[in-house]
Amino acid sequence: MSDLLKEIGKRKTFGIIAHPDAGKTTLTEKLLLFGGAIQEAGAVKSNKIKKGATSDFMEIERQRGISVATSVLAFEYKGHKINILDTPGHKDFAEDTYRTLTAVDSVIVVVDVAKGVEEQTEKLVQVCRMRNIPMIVFINKLDREGKDAFDLLDEVEQKLGLTVVPLSLPIGMGSDFQGIYNIWEHNIQLFLEEKKQRVGSAVKFDDINDSKIDEAIGEKAAATLREELELIQEVYPEFNREDYMNGDLQPVFFGSALNNFGVRELLDAFIEIAPNPQPKESDTRLVKPEEKDFTGFIFKIHANMDPKHRDRLAFVKIVSGTFKRNENYLLVRENKKMKFSSPNAFFADKKEVVDESFPGDIVGLHDTGNFRIGDTLTGGEKMSFKGIPNFSPEHFRYINNDDPLKAKQLAKGIDQLMDEGVAQLFTLDMNNRKIIGTVGALQYEVIQYRLEHEYGAKCTYEPLSIHKACWIEADEKSEEFKEFARLKQRFMCKDKYGRPVFLADSSFTIHMTQEKFPNVKLHFISEFK
Ligand code: G4P
Repeated sequence: MSDLLKEIGKRKTFGIIAHPDAGKTTLTEKLLLFGGAIQEAGAVKSNKIKKGATSDFMEIERQRGISVATSVLAFEYKGHKINILDTPGHKDFAEDTYRTLTAVDSVIVVVDVAKGVEEQTEKLVQVCRMRNIPMIVFINKLDREGKDAFDLLDEVEQKLGLTVVPLSLPIGMGSDFQGIYNIWEHNIQLFLEEKKQRVGSAVKFDDINDSKIDEAIGEKAAATLREELELIQEVYPEFNREDYMNGDLQPVFFGSALNNFGVRELLDAFIEIAPNPQPKESDTRLVKPEEKDFTGFIFKIHANMDPKHRDRLAFVKIVSGTFKRNENYLLVRENKKMKFSSPNAFFADKKEVVDESFPGDIVGLHDTGNFRIGDTLTGGEKMSFKGIPNFSPEHFRYINNDDPLKAKQLAKGIDQLMDEGVAQLFTLDMNNRKIIGTVGALQYEVIQYRLEHEYGAKCTYEPLSIHKACWIEADEKSEEFKEFARLKQRFMCKDKYGRPVFLADSSFTIHMTQEKFPNVKLHFISEFK
């Protein structure tokens, strides 16, 4: 086997998605402990926005600054190299998470046993479903009183639209929590009674009627367990890796990240079933990881928060071949050759210059303003990976120049901040006025502050009542489209890439428009073909 194939076979790149507080940071930390990447709990900086900090965006940016190092966490486990890509749970940074999901090969979804499926989880899982990303569900905080396991499985199926197959089952819950029956490995993990802090020994057995089970957890609990397992066999499909890989079937595990319970089982199943780096579609062909020539794409750009160092860090996911330091690569959009003398690789607690990286890996490239989110880098081939989609923003405001002498700086600043993906820019057809759309209101403050401190430009905003940005799919020469464009001319604009967008002021307008102009299709996402 060639070195490249070996390296690909070792790698698994994934993201953990969850509603804030479900336990993403805790689970990440426990996974890193298993990998020996960190020595003690508490070493991973939470990338979560602390409660009460929502009005203080500088504090948030400071925390995000810290989190650059934790954007990618790599560790080794049983001969595998595992890359965890960080996905901010805070809804104001949801776009960041959506983009990161284009760079993962699978995800683990964390659900709080008491709160069940929450809003942010629903949105993120929807994005994963659109892309058929393989998902494993981890139901966390079993040491607390929570919902019944079967009710939760139903809720996961209904709210997230998944087809689940439980691969473990809790025995009791909260104060009665005794342990976990591991369907995948056929054993029972007992939760130590007194302190409930250490993992008890595993009771192994081949037969569910084994009396060892009654001894271990008591006759009553054993009888319930047998009934529940029977129910599982009747109701749920058998686990099938192909269905999981295609995004048609999602295994579920139960545990408690804080108590390190059920985490090793999750990790062991993960390395066995989760996909290695996957091929990726480009505008000309499907690119396979094992191809000799390097290709990759930029899914995230992080501004340096230190005002003394204006550079940015662009995160590249390697799709194929070997990425080498100081080699000439092509930035396809600009048809520009570039060399990188200090590409960074990321580890749990540091980043380091690397000479070589392989498919599935993420490298950080220092950038002075060349890159844009979604850019493709290749060894010379002129092809581009399918774009990273934009989703309709939730907030819209006009942006005005507040210092006529700094118009150029303002334009440059807006341009670069949009390239970083901080927000989206729309330009009205009618009068060229500029509109900024964001996922969270917080971004307006971030933009204003950064325009002033990084570009010396000043801006003000004006409110605008828009419900959604709709990307238009229509035959622009048709009478129907012309009529639509004439009637809606005040709301017609272009996004940053010149694509036609209709700004709808209410869901009622969208509904009426679609009835009246059935051949003018409106999409809430920029990528629909
Ligand atoms: P997040 O990254 O998804 O936002 O969640 P995070 O891991 O920070 O966990 C949120 C809270 O839930 C934390 O408590 C954490 O200790 C707790 N937690 C995580 N896993 C478990 C679990 O298995 N059982 C129980 N009982 N709690 C769990 P916190 O009080 O908000 O923060 P901290 O001060 O303890 O860090």
